[in-house]
Amino acid sequence: FRAASKSANFTGLIENELRQVSPGIRELLSSKFEELSKCSRYYTIAQGKQMRPSLVLLVSKATSLCSGIDQSIVGSNFLEDDAPDHVSTGQVLPSQLRLAQITEMIHTASLLHDDVIDHASSRRGHPSSNVAFGNRKSVLTGNFILGRASTAMARLRTPKVTELFATVVADLVRGEFLQLKNTADTNSLELQPFHFDYYIEKTYLKTASLISKSCQSAAILGQCSPTVIEAAADYGRYVGTAFQLMDDVLDYTSQDETLGKAANADLNLGLATAPVLFAWKQYPELGAMVINRFNCPSDVKKARELVESTDGIEATVKWANDYILKAHEALQCIPDSPARQALHAVAEKVVARNY
Ligand code: FPP
Ligand code: MG
Ligand code: MG
Repeated sequence: FRAASKSANFTGLIENELRQVSPGIRELLSSKFEELSKCSRYYTIAQGKQMRPSLVLLVSKATSLCSGIDQSIVGSNFLEDDAPDHVSTGQVLPSQLRLAQITEMIHTASLLHDDVIDHASSRRGHPSSNVAFGNRKSVLTGNFILGRASTAMARLRTPKVTELFATVVADLVRGEFLQLKNTADTNSLELQPFHFDYYIEKTYLKTASLISKSCQSAAILGQCSPTVIEAAADYGRYVGTAFQLMDDVLDYTSQDETLGKAANADLNLGLATAPVLFAWKQYPELGAMVINRFNCPSDVKKARELVESTDGIEATVKWANDYILKAHEALQCIPDSPARQALHAVAEKVVARNY
């Protein structure tokens, strides 16, 4: 399926639903305080890749043939107007479309906070929110989006999904806390297996948790069997982990204009991502730089040269590809369909992308 999925067109299948994601979000963010509406809708103007809502919609479609098993964790499922949310094959349910919007809102809220923490200058080819509106409004706006996302989530009346998303918010913060520290609590100058464990845990928390739990939630809302719900969670976790590994690669290999944000940022932020960890294997002198968060004036340049003179980038891409193979495997218990093929294609795209 690797070769076949490379050419598959996956957005066509969910075109109609995907078109409703941003307008729906903008509606959920309306406020009589015009400035708040403006700030909170800022990151919906220049759209991102929409990978998260696309995955929620495709998982919804791909699993719609697997419904009707474990009612106990699903609960009754109502949108604002209390209209029953029927399960029908091949369709994306209104609750699942709303889930796609909520997922993107939580991602957006986290970006508003992230751009403050990372002193970002641009995002999606425009000045980032912290530059456009300042730190205080960016943080407040992130909280506002979280609040509106929580209201929309409560209205889905599905406690298990609410619980998963509450966990995601905590995971995002835990991931950022791990990243602030950069490496496990040790002053080890030598690379150890736990450095990779720490990095991958951080990666799960900051990126894969949202993707995994949103895919899982799509299957829960579709009233799928426990096996399919777990497969959706696994697929999301593997794709999400590969996505962040590639993000960490692109920080080294891509350009500002292609990414729409500053490339070459991680070392300047003091971050030792996977390419540095692999390079550290070969160059023990990186240990001191990692511990000091590349703080000495020449560290960033030196560390970059060392990374480039090893196979650190290739090793990270290979690691991402290993996760993508697992993502393909996770889909095996879902009946084959164009939507499942599209999920294979998205997984391939994650490791083939250049932005
Ligand atoms: C982007 O990563 C940021 C994240 C994946 C998560 C950020 C999470 C927080 C700031 C915690 C607060 C969360 C909420 C929900 C309010 P990156 O900085 O590596 O990527 P970038 O290059 O796109 O900035
Ligand atoms: Mg960050
Ligand atoms: Mg950032």
